[in-house]
Amino acid sequence: MSLAAPLLQARYGAHANALNVPDSPVLEHLLSHRSVRHFLPDALPEHTITTLVAAAQSAASSSNLQTWSVVAVQSQASRDRLADLAGHQAHIRTAPLLLVWLADLSRIARIAQYKGAQADGLPYLDTYLMAVIDAALAAQNAVVAAEALGLGTVYIGALRNQPEAVAEVVGTPEGVFPVFGLMVGHPDPARPAAIKPRLPQAAVLHRERYTAPGNLIEEIGDYDAQLRSFQTREGLPPADWSDVVLERLRDAHALKGRHRLVEALHGAGFPLR
Ligand SMILES: Cc1cc2nc3c(=O)[nH]c(=O)nc-3n(C[C@H](O)[C@H](O)[C@H](O)COP(=O)(O)O)c2cc1C
Repeated sequence: MSLAAPLLQARYGAHANALNVPDSPVLEHLLSHRSVRHFLPDALPEHTITTLVAAAQSAASSSNLQTWSVVAVQSQASRDRLADLAGHQAHIRTAPLLLVWLADLSRIARIAQYKGAQADGLPYLDTYLMAVIDAALAAQNAVVAAEALGLGTVYIGALRNQPEAVAEVVGTPEGVFPVFGLMVGHPDPARPAAIKPRLPQAAVLHRERYTAPGNLIEEIGDYDAQLRSFQTREGLPPADWSDVVLERLRDAHALKGRHRLVEALHGAGFPLR
């Protein structure tokens, strides 16, 4: 039996049997991912931030433009304020470190200014998208690195609920936009996180050409039942995944402030042409 087998079982249930994943410590590490929402208040080793940033900067970068930055927020007062702005999520207060990942076009704008050069490609949607993609790849490398250090993480997309107020807390200038946060800390061993099942590969993997399925079972297989039993095992309210995703995107109100993102981006100096 492959070393990854129990991890694949947790991720895919019965569908795991059809998968053949070679033994590799890196693959086991990746397949073991889970978001952590219960942290000890313990301080992090001093090398943590610079190690995570080294991993983050080792990610690929579109044209090596490196259009991201990160603010390491450790102060309790700032984390408390950001927790208030991001749906009062308790883990923002308890984990000792919040990394705020930024799409940062301001560095290139400054370089253009130093050199008296034009940078007319900056205001375009694709340039913003490049910055967001770069920030996400960097952050995910930091997640993998944190997990390698025995730490836990959880992303905080809710930082986009009130982006202007978040920008004030972390002091971002024009041309810089907080894309999401990432909590980092020591997982509380008394409340361990479990591996969350994912859609069967048949739902996400298309070979050669995209094929749209014709009904819910063809679309997601038995994933509703799998997630429902995961929720029950974790002591969370049981719910079908298909209902949760529809609720999450029911209407503009369900976006919890993020329906104004284009407006907030315009205000932060991203015309998105
Ligand atoms: C960009 C992004 C934003 C997220 N925002 C939040 C958040 O605000 N709060 C939270 O508790 N989890 C957040 N998550 C974590 C997801 O809920 C989690 O990754 C998903 O449920 C799958 O669970 P797993 O990471 O344990 O496999 C976010 C994840 C991503 C990728």
